[in-house]
Amino acid sequence: MNYGHFDEKNREYVITRPDTPSAWANYLGSPEYGAIISNNAGGYSFVKSGANGRIIRYRFNSVALDQPGRYIYLRDKDLSAPGASEYWSASWAPVCKPLDSYKSECRHGTAYTVISSEYRGIGAKTTYYVPLGATHEVWHLELTNNSDRPRNLAVTGYCEFVNDNNYEQDQVNLQYTLFITHTYFKDKFILQKQNENFHNPNNERFLGLARQKVTAYCGDRDKFVGPYRSYANPVGIEEGLKGDLNYCDNSCGALETSITLAPGETKVFTYVLAQKPEKEAAALIERYETEGVVEKELAELKNYWHSKLDTLQVHTPDDNFNNMVNVWNAYNCFITFTWSRAASFQYCGLRNGFGYRDTVQDIQGIIHLAPEMAADQIRFMLSAQVTNGAGLPLVKYTHKAGQENTPDDPEYVKETGHPSYRADDALWLFPTVYKYISESGNIAFLDEEIFYANNGEKGTVYDHLKRAISFSMNNLGNHGMPAGLHADWNDCLRLGKKGESTFVAFQLVYAIKILKKYAEIKNDAEYIKYLDEIAAKLDTILADCWNEDRWIRGYKEDGVVIGKRTDPEASMWLNPQSWSVIAGFGTKEQQETAMESVHRELNTPYGAMVMYPAYENHGFNGALMTCFNKGVKENAGIFSQPQGWLILAESKLGHGNRAFEYWTEAAPATYNDKAEHRALEPYVYGQFVEAKDSPFAGRAHVHWLTGTASTVMVGTVEGILGINPEAEGLVINPSIPSEWKSFTIEKTFRGKKLFVKIENPNGSQHGVKKITVDGSVIEGILIPEKILKDKSEIIIEM
Ligand code: GLC
Repeated sequence: MNYGHFDEKNREYVITRPDTPSAWANYLGSPEYGAIISNNAGGYSFVKSGANGRIIRYRFNSVALDQPGRYIYLRDKDLSAPGASEYWSASWAPVCKPLDSYKSECRHGTAYTVISSEYRGIGAKTTYYVPLGATHEVWHLELTNNSDRPRNLAVTGYCEFVNDNNYEQDQVNLQYTLFITHTYFKDKFILQKQNENFHNPNNERFLGLARQKVTAYCGDRDKFVGPYRSYANPVGIEEGLKGDLNYCDNSCGALETSITLAPGETKVFTYVLAQKPEKEAAALIERYETEGVVEKELAELKNYWHSKLDTLQVHTPDDNFNNMVNVWNAYNCFITFTWSRAASFQYCGLRNGFGYRDTVQDIQGIIHLAPEMAADQIRFMLSAQVTNGAGLPLVKYTHKAGQENTPDDPEYVKETGHPSYRADDALWLFPTVYKYISESGNIAFLDEEIFYANNGEKGTVYDHLKRAISFSMNNLGNHGMPAGLHADWNDCLRLGKKGESTFVAFQLVYAIKILKKYAEIKNDAEYIKYLDEIAAKLDTILADCWNEDRWIRGYKEDGVVIGKRTDPEASMWLNPQSWSVIAGFGTKEQQETAMESVHRELNTPYGAMVMYPAYENHGFNGALMTCFNKGVKENAGIFSQPQGWLILAESKLGHGNRAFEYWTEAAPATYNDKAEHRALEPYVYGQFVEAKDSPFAGRAHVHWLTGTASTVMVGTVEGILGINPEAEGLVINPSIPSEWKSFTIEKTFRGKKLFVKIENPNGSQHGVKKITVDGSVIEGILIPEKILKDKSEIIIEM
């Protein structure tokens, strides 16, 4: 069953049935002013922090689902005899009229959402967006009378303000926060103000209306809803607003406008919501009184996003693949890049900072689309690297490069709750920096000086990378592999301080290879020698980690091996297998065997499980995943992020069919017609999918802000499409399903527009036979940058 479809041309997902199995969301604005909105207008807004900067409420896990939100109620005044009142909402929820008579459509686009409905001959179309760079949001309603008689309507825009910007205080410390605000009305807006002595410099928020007059208002949520009622049947809508204001308790912004619409007539309403004082509120609303402002802002917004997406477009025989690569996976990457784990319908950013690993991984998803935007964030993350080479486990939103405390300081631990470094954090820098330098050609980046997080010390990027290696080498476990410290990528696997993870060891192998390339450029002979030495040692140590047909997961501090073939539980782990291939470690035969074991033991119709069998009776103290139901999250669930590494690994082995099989299993779009089963938005990745030990195998969870967007993007672009820039040019060496007989890629590469046609008449999965650039055949598979023109045509024969 589907609830909608992709509109690739307009870069929108169109929801045609509003009763989706979960709230299907979109992101508006940026963390400077962020808004999350569902297909039924549910969601919340915040300034700077989803946890500490909230301005409107959203009750997580609410009953009814997905409330409250940015509601616009419509009431037909002619049908509103007391007790027989006829009203509905411009989004299907919260009133939820029967779907045989209520028609609705939601278009989630790139940083805007349009919700349209038609009921009783009245058409409503609301466009929700945050203008580029702005710190307010707009709900622009176009209301049309599609019936053949004049209609008298009451139109009410509504939101529920928070009392305290801090989410937790606002929700649960009611003996305090209920008594700090009041509302007042001014002409075109309801303003909610916190008591001056509450000492919040940003203590005012408002909902205002432009283009129409406010004819009645209410600033008191409890009067608006009425006792023992809900958002589905608020008394304020049934009876009209009565000018109630709020002093203590809960406030809201409710603005009613009575209008008459002639047959065929359209009237527009522009609601503005923000956290701003009265004067600014008035000026902002004034701005939207002018016709055309909304249209101009929307055009700018679309242009901004679409031009970013334009830098890579593919046209393959698979529509799902095109939709994901061209629009949704790319947009999902930009959202995770910008928002990190700040705010969603599952969490609201209580950790108040950037996780090191997550953020450095997220950057990878946009490097091929916006390398300079990525570079700024790489600089930022390098500036959060401690002088000992490790990443700060949590980088505060207020991060001050050079001046931060570290997990070695009690203040940092107290403030962030992070007592130790992670073995893997800084190792993610290597592929990320490598991808940026290769995409941009900016090798000078290595010489840029950047602060370390602490001690006021600075170093070149090259120096930062060297220190990351030092950190690993200074923290070795009993066998000589990087010590597990707090955890590796897997938050639930604590092997002990001196425990060792093969995954991290493979990351280190890979890091050494990357750094060696840079050391060669720098003629750093002594360092190359050092790298060779440590690589050779790791080779020997890791060789012992091969166990029949798989790589083990690691050693616990007490020497116990995790992930042996004969273990009763957790005998097979996904990440070490795919990462041996990504790192280029082991023999070809080992790589092939390990990946075959993955397919045999971990693959399911919905992707590969992160390990199997689940821990149940044989867990250990550090196996934190045992707390999860079997088949869920890190306990033998299908963790989504590793699917990207799997796709990449299979592609590197030249297994186009297998890579595409994994891509298909993981891709949200392929579940569009079984959306009731997957439950999450068919256009975004989630954190994990329930696997075969669960009675709900295939159900996905934790939408949007997950590392999955970036790893799958990398697996798709570098792996399946085989687009791998290098300093001197570009390699395009696809690993595709053999049934793709031809496809095209449009890519912007260092300012040049490339039109690439790949021809695969013999149905191979991998292997380039011939490359023609602007009519001339080239030697080898590297397309030198210097022969590229502003627009070049490339034909690749497989
Ligand atoms: C979560 C964490 C991430 C971790 C992953 C696997 O997504 O944000 O840091 O790597 O879980 O445990």
